[in-house]
Amino acid sequence: MVLKTFRVWLVGLCMGVVFLTPAVAVGQGTGSSPDISGIHLNTKGFSSSRQCGQCHKDIFADWEHCLHAHSSNNAVFEAAYLQVYFERGEGARKTCLGCHAPVAYFNNDPKLTQPISHEGVSCDFCHSIAEVLPGTPEGPQFRFEFGGVKQGPMKDSKSPAHSTRYNELYRQSLFCKGCHEQVNPSGIPMITTFSEWEQSPYPDKGITCQKCHMEPVAGKTVAEFVKKTTATQISNHNIAAGHSLTKRRQALEIKITTIETHRNRIRVQVDLTNTGAGHKMPTGLPVKKIILEVKVEDANGGHRQMQQRVYQKIVADKQGQVVTRVVDLMLGKAVTVVSDNRIAPLETRRESFTFFVRKPKDQTVSAAAYYSYTPEILQPAPIHIKLNEVQRRVR
Ligand code: HEC
Ligand code: HEC
Ligand code: HEC
Ligand code: HEC
Ligand code: HEC
Repeated sequence: MVLKTFRVWLVGLCMGVVFLTPAVAVGQGTGSSPDISGIHLNTKGFSSSRQCGQCHKDIFADWEHCLHAHSSNNAVFEAAYLQVYFERGEGARKTCLGCHAPVAYFNNDPKLTQPISHEGVSCDFCHSIAEVLPGTPEGPQFRFEFGGVKQGPMKDSKSPAHSTRYNELYRQSLFCKGCHEQVNPSGIPMITTFSEWEQSPYPDKGITCQKCHMEPVAGKTVAEFVKKTTATQISNHNIAAGHSLTKRRQALEIKITTIETHRNRIRVQVDLTNTGAGHKMPTGLPVKKIILEVKVEDANGGHRQMQQRVYQKIVADKQGQVVTRVVDLMLGKAVTVVSDNRIAPLETRRESFTFFVRKPKDQTVSAAAYYSYTPEILQPAPIHIKLNEVQRRVR
């Protein structure tokens, strides 16, 4: 079966001028002809992920529940987005769309009235990226080719619904840089996940963002009614992090390396290592903290004492006030980085704590790390997630 499709070449920038040059392309046929009459891909713009999901069922099922799929319709983003409109107007609001609702950006739908605007970082958006260009404060810049051709990491794939193109970019961290690296309009780095990775030992080991966040999982690239393939694995499209328990557990290793007692004192040394994250802990917007908490308590769980160390990046405005609101961060209110003691990939922080207790021998020492973040709309109930914990009795 031969399917005619129109390929639209879009050469332009997310935030810049867009040139449209329509060109005709012909989709490849497969041996047998699956019935795909109910599937309608948009050849002049972005298609809904639901259309892709009719054939790429397993990939769709993973993507559907991840944060990328909900980057424009989760409560935390929605509140911030409405705030931007209220405080700075329509123009500023478009800034957010480049990363959170890139399809809405293209369709010029800042009020998010079209259903497709709620698909966040969608299938067709990612698989139309041809090249990642250096970003601007307003957001990412990509060169797109969309409409008929879907680009990806497979060398010889053929589809009855669209033409395909192998593009090495899909296996590189550079692909993710478009949205996971940002300098604000005042020139202060806000999101530096990509450069943290770039400066770590991981690039030399060939460990990309995809290796950790899109690892192979069981599944079929396409449903069998379209094409029978022998492959049994797909790249995990439930690109997860803080929202995944396994990812959190592998991120930080805690070791109580020494416990010394001296009369009424206990000195505890703890090593905290960023063993699992390919970037700093924490990474992303400077609103998150890692908290190391060390406790001593007696055999009955009484007389508890606790000490903390906090790892975070702190930025401030012209008056020296610390900036923590996402809206202010993204729109350039921060003009200086006050401090940044986040833990780099594979780095170990050795921390010492001294506790004063009457009977040191009676005590149990424990050390736990937490991921802590207080979204504005949840102010009274901060997110406080235990990452890991270890314990030792004092002998
Ligand atoms: C009618 C079924 C069908 C629909 C609808 C469909 N695809 Fe495909 N797609 C396929 C088949 C078949 C392959 C080839 C798989 C293989 O070779 O193992 C494929 C391959 C791909 C590839 C791999 C390309 C490469 O070179 O790495 C990507 C990416 C892709 N599709 C994305 C999409 C996106 C995005 C949509 C929605 C806009 C979509 N597909 C809609 C059937 C479909
Ligand atoms: C078009 C922009 C865009 C691209 C491209 C992109 N991301 Fe994201 N990503 C986002 C946005 C926006 C969020 C935050 C969504 C939110 O919290 O509302 C996010 C969130 C995430 C998260 C956090 C998920 C969680 O469970 O906490 C991870 C991990 C992630 N992205 C990894 C990646 C990787 C790996 C790539 C490259 C393969 C990538 N992203 C490409 C925009 C993008
Ligand atoms: C954040 C961007 C992003 C989104 C959203 C996304 N993909 Fe992908 N996709 C990738 C990347 C990157 C790879 C390559 C991963 C690798 O090889 O390490 C990939 C691989 C693929 C492949 C090749 C087969 C495989 O399993 O590796 C297909 C087919 C595909 N994606 C289809 C889809 C469909 C369908 C959707 C929506 C349900 C989707 N993608 C959403 C970035 C994305
Ligand atoms: C060596 C494995 C590894 C590599 C490489 C890696 N990550 Fe991660 N990433 C993790 C782990 C583990 C976490 C979970 C830590 C946490 O819960 O904060 C994480 C967390 C994240 C988060 C969520 C941060 C938050 O506070 O919720 C984002 C976004 C992210 N990674 C994006 C990326 C991008 C983009 C790249 C490539 C430039 C990348 N990661 C490379 C392992 C990795
Ligand atoms: C350069 C890309 C980019 C732009 C532009 C951008 N964001 Fe984000 N945003 C992200 C990424 C990536 C994350 C994921 C978390 C992280 O890395 O800290 C995020 C996270 C968030 C979060 C936290 C969401 C959660 O679930 O915890 C909010 C709220 C948010 N952004 C609001 C906005 C608003 C409002 C704007 C416009 C003023 C905006 N963003 C512009 C990339 C961007």
